[in-house]
Parts: sequence; C-alpha cells; structure tokens
Amino acid sequence: MKRIAVLASGNGSNLQALINQLNVPSSPAEISLVVSNVASAHALTRGREAGIPTFFVPHEGKEDRQNHEKLLVQLLQEYETDFVCLAGFMRLLTHRFLSAYPQRVLNTHPSLLPSFPGKHAPEQALKAGVKMTGCTIHLVDEGIDTGPILAQAAVPVLENDNVSSLTSRIQSAEHQLYPHVARLFAQGHVHNKGPLFFLNGCSP
Ligand code: GRF
Repeated sequence: MKRIAVLASGNGSNLQALINQLNVPSSPAEISLVVSNVASAHALTRGREAGIPTFFVPHEGKEDRQNHEKLLVQLLQEYETDFVCLAGFMRLLTHRFLSAYPQRVLNTHPSLLPSFPGKHAPEQALKAGVKMTGCTIHLVDEGIDTGPILAQAAVPVLENDNVSSLTSRIQSAEHQLYPHVARLFAQGHVHNKGPLFFLNGCSP
C-alpha cells in the first residue's frame, strides 16, 4: 500500500476525488496525509472529514521558502509518504523539497500543457479561441508547469462557454484522470517515457 500526501491550498475538489477513488478497500494507495499552506482552505475540512491526518503549515513569505519546505519534508517523512500529489497547491517547490521526493511529485494542471501554463489556464484558453483544451497530470520540476507529462484528457470548448463553465468541465475531467493516474503510479505503471492519453476519462 503506497502512502500519498496531498498538498492543497484551496477548495480541494481534486483532493476529494483522490480520497473518494483511492481510500477504498483493495486500493493500491491511500491518501494518508493532507497539508495546506492556507488556514482557510476547504481542503483542510475535506481531509479532516475523511478522518485523514490534516495539517496547516504556514509560511511567512518568500524568504521563508526553504524553512517551509524543510517543515513539509519533515512532516511527510514522519507520515512515511511514498509520493506526493499537488492539488491546487499555490506555491512553487524548489530543490529543497523535490530532492526529497525525486520524480515522485505529481500535479494536475487545467490545460493541455505545454499550452497555457501558470495561472488562469481556462481563461487563457478562451482568449486564445482554441476549440479543445483539457487537463494534464505531470511530474513536478522547479519550473512553472514544465515537468514531464504523464497523462492528458481533452475537453471541448463550447461556443457559449465562460470561465466558470469551462473550468467546471475541465475539473470534471481532472477528477477522473488524477485518481486514475495516481493509482497507476502507485502500481508502478506510470513511467516518464512518454504521455498516456485519455479522452474524456476513457481508460486505455
Ligand atoms: C485545479 O483545477 C488544478 O488543475 C489547479 O488548481 C485547481 C484546484 O482545484 N492546479 P481544487 O482545489 O482541487 O478544487
């Protein structure tokens, strides 16, 4: 059984999808720790309600980054974390953290990377006028959404979409794809040898 730590800063809908689909009997992995850098994050409530050890680890500012990451690593090691899923964690991670979990930090991003990295990806997609966007599960490196792509799901942009409707459609895809990839990753089936593609949640 692999032990996953989830780091989240906000609503935590992806955390919830991971809990719902992985913390079930005969799963190869479980969410065993939830950490947020935001005291008011709904993700903390979701973790607590699921009975998972849940922690708020504050940071004071950029100068505090190394110390914050040191505290995160200590906590994750204490809970015998095998790998990490970022789920709306709004901090860039440095070598200090990533070297403790090499090639073992996953993230979900709401676009088909390398298009539209960074913040406001659905808004960027609408502005660009693309007809298809989606979500990407990738390994995390020190860049902004630049790590190796593991899997992607395509999501159509509809004529009357606004940021809210498109975000919600992309998130539905994330909620299917992220737990699926996390499960495969726990089983050792996901390698950094090229992306797996899923269309609208269809498994290969
Ligand atoms: C997700 O759309 C994810 O792609 C992005 O942040 C959002 C987090 O949403 N990195 P939630 O907190 O999981 O609901």
